[in-house]
Amino acid sequence: MGHCTVMAITHLLWRQGRIGLGWAWLLGMCITMPLQAQQRIIPLDKLQSGIAFTGPEILALQGDDFANPALPALDKGAKLWKQVAGKSDKSCQSCHGELTSSMKGVATRYPAIDKESGQLFNLEDRIRQCRQKQQKASEWPLESDELLAMTLHVTSASHGMPIQVSIEGKAKPHFEAGQKIFMTRQGQMNLACTQCHDQRYGIKLFTDRLSQGQPNAYPAYRIEWQRLASLERRLRFCYTGVKAEIPAWGHMDMRDITLYLMWRAQGLNIEVPSVRK
Ligand code: HEC
Ligand code: HEC
Repeated sequence: MGHCTVMAITHLLWRQGRIGLGWAWLLGMCITMPLQAQQRIIPLDKLQSGIAFTGPEILALQGDDFANPALPALDKGAKLWKQVAGKSDKSCQSCHGELTSSMKGVATRYPAIDKESGQLFNLEDRIRQCRQKQQKASEWPLESDELLAMTLHVTSASHGMPIQVSIEGKAKPHFEAGQKIFMTRQGQMNLACTQCHDQRYGIKLFTDRLSQGQPNAYPAYRIEWQRLASLERRLRFCYTGVKAEIPAWGHMDMRDITLYLMWRAQGLNIEVPSVRK
């Protein structure tokens, strides 16, 4: 039963004098429960980017304007932005103009509902769609160097800006699905995302310090993989960590979790180009 139905019935019973205020109040408690599920578990003033947990070497590397290993990919993205391609004979820039103005803040509000299809798109989906439908150029597969470089480039126009996604309308069921995954135990280790990233952040797990599992630094350069990796790839690694079955590449579950992660990170700034262990 939805909480609105509970509220309506409670109100009716109370008005008809069939239940006293005490009961109405108790039933009313049920109403507030689903709302509480939408309250932050980690309060705004406690939100921390993953970089706060990586240790001094990674911090120094990320802050280095020459040695940051994500920089070549960022350059590649900038080149691709200006490169004419496809049947449209246009570059991203031909239609959108300068990245710093046209794409400012865009990465802070994805995943978002695509108006045309009604589907939830993450930023990669959005870029791929534009590449194929608008630019009429060859597809960029998920996790390809081109797609990662362009996603990083587009995200860089939101560097330092706070995350702010919409979970209203058609986005709502996706948010709820993502939240459910985050809270549900899974895999042979029977662990939920929340148990590591809400309840145990700051604690050392093997050699790593557990972070809050924030999405604000992606695509990030991962030293272990010697390459740029999407958030989806990082999430797949967490699935492997708890020995759970990994959804297929591009699965809606990953977009749903991403929407939940971005909502959970609201107020945290986008931080690219980033480096992770
Ligand atoms: C057994 C503990 C554990 C569980 C459960 C777990 N993770 Fe992780 N997660 C890690 C570790 C370890 C890392 C790498 C170090 C870090 O950032 O915490 C990580 C990294 C991440 C990151 C990258 C953070 C950054 O700043 O680079 C995200 C996002 C993330 N996890 C999300 C999730 C989600 C979503 C789930 C559930 C599907 C999940 N994790 C389940 C241990 C876990
Ligand atoms: C022929 C013109 C054209 C080209 C070329 C083009 N785009 Fe677009 N782009 C659009 C239009 C029109 C929209 C908005 C309508 C829509 O959602 O499809 C858009 C929307 C977007 C958005 C979403 C912006 C938002 O506010 O949510 C992104 C991101 C984007 N484009 C990136 C790119 C990238 C990256 C390239 C190059 C690979 C590119 N576009 C090439 C016309 C173009």
